[in-house]
Amino acid sequence: MLLTNMKKPILISGIQPTGRLHLGNYLGALKNFVELQNSGKYQCYFFVADYHSLTEDFDPNQKSEQILNLTADYLAAGLDPKKSAIFLQSRVPQSTELAWILGAITPFGELGRMTQFKDKSGAQKENVNVGLFTYPVLMAADILLYDAGVVPVGEDQLQHLELARTLARKFNSKFGQTFVESKALLTATPRLMSLDDPTKKMSKSSPAGCLFIDDEPAEIEKKIKAAVTDSGSEVKYDEQNKPAISNLLMIYGELSGKSVGEIEKKFSGKGYAEFKKSLAKTVVEYFADFRKQKTSLIKKPATLKKVLRLGSGQAHAIAKKKIHEIKNKIGLLI
Ligand code: ADP
Ligand code: TRP
Repeated sequence: MLLTNMKKPILISGIQPTGRLHLGNYLGALKNFVELQNSGKYQCYFFVADYHSLTEDFDPNQKSEQILNLTADYLAAGLDPKKSAIFLQSRVPQSTELAWILGAITPFGELGRMTQFKDKSGAQKENVNVGLFTYPVLMAADILLYDAGVVPVGEDQLQHLELARTLARKFNSKFGQTFVESKALLTATPRLMSLDDPTKKMSKSSPAGCLFIDDEPAEIEKKIKAAVTDSGSEVKYDEQNKPAISNLLMIYGELSGKSVGEIEKKFSGKGYAEFKKSLAKTVVEYFADFRKQKTSLIKKPATLKKVLRLGSGQAHAIAKKKIHEIKNKIGLLI
């Protein structure tokens, strides 16, 4: 049965239900989630970070749809409730309890230095809320509550993971060994760049440069055709001088299983247009099964809810024990 093999290292990660997943989310996180799950080496927990998503402006009428949409992404990409606990963050209230406890040992200044806080508070000036500031503390709680040793994420989350490690160390030295110091696991593409500007990370907040993994074939072809390229005409990996083509080469390599060298050879003397046409075909074919699965899953909200209910129950059982241990350590159990 699922969470019974307690000897395997514990792995956890989550994504916010804020919008459609793009290729950066896939190549930096979700593809890896599936591979790590299927490696059989870890006891895996994957969740929908709905509480974190409240820190951005949102429409309550759309939130449940966004949650189910991300759950469908997880399943269509290959996450399997028989192998992993797939759950909803807000169904495990111990995470917010722990966030409060950890908040009491988090230096104010550390949170103010977080790049994501600075970026997001700059981007949403009308809504610089406290949740945006304490976001990394809740993220640390998500990780520490499950004794997770491994956390697969994209590069932009590394600073948050470092805080989780710092808080684990600090708590352990103050109150006795309680938490595991987790390690980040990055993919070969931890920071995929935008299609319309290779100096910026592909991000949901800038949809014009995103290739969404549930985009229809015609849309994929249109976006890749329009993607920015560099001067010259040679298909060559060169991050310094050819950042746009290098980014497209990374995508091609990751989705075709070919090495960058092989792809360069294949397109030697052929120019950008032919390369882009082949890349579009590769992307369309790669996600064909995903699109089919997702279209079918999205029509079955009851199935999606059942998956979250099952996983949340599993996560909750672990979290309840851990919060008891934590409260005991800090003298709250009277
Ligand atoms: P976004 O920045 O687009 O809003 P999220 O913050 O929801 O994305 O990120 C979900 C996961 O995808 C995280 O693990 C994050 O590090 C990863 N990720 C986001 N953008 C990229 C990217 N451009 N390249 C690689 N990984 C990314
Ligand atoms: N902050 C992560 C993101 O934006 C989502 C997240 C919340 C997370 N809690 C986590 C990721 C715990 C890994 C572990 O993508």
